[in-house]
Amino acid sequence: MKFTNEQLWERFQKFYTEFPSIHLSIDLSRMNFTDAFLRGMEPEITRAFCAMAELEKGAIANPDEKRMVGHYWLRYPELAPTADIRREIEETLASLKNFAHEIHEGKIQGASGPFKNLLVIGIGGSALGPQFVANALSHPTTDKLSVRFLDNTDPDGMDRVLAGIGTELDNTVCIVISKSGGTKETRNGMLEAKAVFEKAGLSFAHHAVAVTGCGSDLDKVAVKEGWLRRFPMWDWVGGRTSELSAVGLLPAALQGFDVDSLLAGARACDEITRVSNFKQNPSAQLALMWFYAGNGIGAKDMVILPYKDRLELISKYLQQLIMESLGKGLDINNRIVNQGIAVYGNKGSTDQHAYIQQLREGLNNFFATFIEVIRDRSGASIPVDPNVTSGDYLSGFLLGTREALYENGRESITITIGEVSPFSVGVLIALFERAVGFYASLINVNAYHQPGVEAGKKAASTIIELQGKIVDFLTQKKGSPQTVVQIAEAVSDKSRAETVFKICEHLSGNPETGIRRHDGTSPAAVSYQKAN
Ligand code: PA5
Repeated sequence: MKFTNEQLWERFQKFYTEFPSIHLSIDLSRMNFTDAFLRGMEPEITRAFCAMAELEKGAIANPDEKRMVGHYWLRYPELAPTADIRREIEETLASLKNFAHEIHEGKIQGASGPFKNLLVIGIGGSALGPQFVANALSHPTTDKLSVRFLDNTDPDGMDRVLAGIGTELDNTVCIVISKSGGTKETRNGMLEAKAVFEKAGLSFAHHAVAVTGCGSDLDKVAVKEGWLRRFPMWDWVGGRTSELSAVGLLPAALQGFDVDSLLAGARACDEITRVSNFKQNPSAQLALMWFYAGNGIGAKDMVILPYKDRLELISKYLQQLIMESLGKGLDINNRIVNQGIAVYGNKGSTDQHAYIQQLREGLNNFFATFIEVIRDRSGASIPVDPNVTSGDYLSGFLLGTREALYENGRESITITIGEVSPFSVGVLIALFERAVGFYASLINVNAYHQPGVEAGKKAASTIIELQGKIVDFLTQKKGSPQTVVQIAEAVSDKSRAETVFKICEHLSGNPETGIRRHDGTSPAAVSYQKAN
């Protein structure tokens, strides 16, 4: 089904909605749903509105982990279900703003003067939000601190980031962010950064701040070593919805961004998206369109296309928010559902020279979400053609791509914001957080746990244990080459041979381990030896 231009204009008038208080509009006209679809979904979306209202009141909306889900309270502490929670939110906000102020004023300094750089160490929900916001709001000449991230346990990746700081380590404040305080990638990033500080004769503790759950391993390290400051993460805030807690607000405040506007944008969006009416609720509109597009089973991928460099990382941020929240094996009633929506994207018009060819002509297995920004730049633009600016081209490419996709039966949603600002970034965060919550209710999954992530963490620790046994075994057999099967049988059993092979390949490829490979004609014929 495809509508003619005349019909599209009719649909546009019906399904284009402006939300002036948050400077946002949404156009659903190029999604080919029918009125009957909307009528049919009324009971479901009403249920989703009720579930959300309960969640905001403090219901245990994350039943597996027996937790409340309170990210909406972060921007409206008055809504918190207890006076203690409200106080904690307000005190944390005041204290992180005060800390940032003291750093900017030079009252808290690095080893040799005021801080100039910020190193954020975290992963997943403890990095993607801060990265998205930093990219959206930073300016090389006005930011108070220049930010870098360690968001992986890749040694070379860390070397590159730390080399970028170079001789300015003494002017670098590090924030280590981990809700659980036990995530290995983050722990490793912290240890690697600490080693570099110590090598430079600097105290890491005097440059380090922790954002973590009270009493976590990270918290204990920060207390024991006397770090500069500790900020709390609470069990009622999930990692991927933590951008407006200290996780995101502390880095933002240190960079000099207006955190009050970020919070105000989210709060204003929450007010709109609390309305129990599809027509007046942009998050409900998104959730219903996701349901329509993918038939409620995620049958179509969501392609995020912001036409703005500053919003480039929203695609990665939403990929986590949506896929980690909705990608679930079991529903709330423990039935196997294997739900989710695949999300990917980058930015326009850059993507027009990459994968949009396939979107228009290849597999029709997606729907696009365009994010349009009206304001081109803070100053005036020069003409690049008579009466045409670069920004006109950017806008033209967005409109053109939208049309070209629709002509070929590819559907899209368009979200428009006035400009990229702390307020609008807060709006976008809140808009999608609630859309995810509504959609989770529509498909009856728990959006607030992540058993798959935990499973990956456990599997990795088993591998590291196995590696320890392999190294011990090869050390005992020092000088004597051992085949993969011999090693596997000694440390576990033959069924682990492939894993043993992969571990030994990695060990022998890194000379500091002292493990050497003796080539063979097949993996079974290869042997490894710890040098004498
Ligand atoms: O959203 C989530 O819950 C996860 O992506 C976590 O943020 C991620 O695993 C990092 O966890 P932590 O903050 O405990 O280090």
